[in-house]
Amino acid sequence: MIRHVLGIRQLEVREIEHLLELGTDFKKRIVEGRSVPEIKQKVVGMLFFENSTRTRVSFEQAAYYLGMKTANFSSAGSSMSKGETLKDTILTLRHERLDGLVMRHRMSGAATLAARFFGGPVVNAGDGQHEHPTQALGDALTILERKGRIEGLSVAIVGDVEHSRVARSNAWLLSKMGADIRFVGPRTLMPDTMTMLPGKVCHDLPTGIAGADVIICLRLQRERMLDGLFSSVGEYASMYQINRETLAFARPDCLVMHPGPINRGVELDDPAADSDQSAINAQVENGIFVRMACLYWAFGQEGMGKNFPQAIAAAKAVSKPKGKVKA
Ligand code: NCD
Repeated sequence: MIRHVLGIRQLEVREIEHLLELGTDFKKRIVEGRSVPEIKQKVVGMLFFENSTRTRVSFEQAAYYLGMKTANFSSAGSSMSKGETLKDTILTLRHERLDGLVMRHRMSGAATLAARFFGGPVVNAGDGQHEHPTQALGDALTILERKGRIEGLSVAIVGDVEHSRVARSNAWLLSKMGADIRFVGPRTLMPDTMTMLPGKVCHDLPTGIAGADVIICLRLQRERMLDGLFSSVGEYASMYQINRETLAFARPDCLVMHPGPINRGVELDDPAADSDQSAINAQVENGIFVRMACLYWAFGQEGMGKNFPQAIAAAKAVSKPKGKVKA
């Protein structure tokens, strides 16, 4: 059976724990300058049909650390600009003898479609508003490093939930692992199908983040929005921005997270983004290690990552922030 990483929703808790163990193990080895097991002689296609900085670079880094070769592909400059369908593109890449695919696409379900036709492992790097599983895994590793647990934490996901695949993947992962989830934001930026997501909805920021252990801020994803979902960016920021004043409603040790890219001054102000409470840079770095874990797992490699509680203790021990950048 081919292993894909298409979404958190399909993964069982033991699989999520295994990927987090693997990610921790890879991080420890790399931070300590030790070798990692390589996946030699495999070429993974990097299909980014949507813009990306963090996700793309960290998949490249992950593949490099694992000794894999990457083949880059974007729709501009390919036969898709001549009208080739996604299905035919995937079939072509299959017969180009690529061994696996990492794929980002603006359509929800695109990675699942690719998995049907490709014949090898597919890792979803973000499909529309649906899922972004590797972001959620990196965020979970970051929470484990900084809080030592996920179970029992209060996590507030704040902002444009409707258009966010990060919100969905994080909500599935963190709730499966025992966190209590609240979605906070204006009514117009909450999905109609809210009852299908695991968490409570709150439209008032102070109430929604009261006593939170973790706040995950979301960008206003205007590239996916129809006009008129909020009056103005200024009004939105005055109601939902995470800053010193609003952070006072959360727990004093509340972790501030954001998947990036940040719109500084909108969902977050500078002091909140750059304070010691912020885990944003750690999220970026941990993205590499969980993406290594996903590639290693999807390519059916065995032998690493056996004990979740020990891995969590190790995660706390290797968590050395890279140092702060002066503004
Ligand atoms: C997110 C994405 O693309 O879904 N970014 C990321 O991958 N780090 C969130 C966003 O674009 O706002």
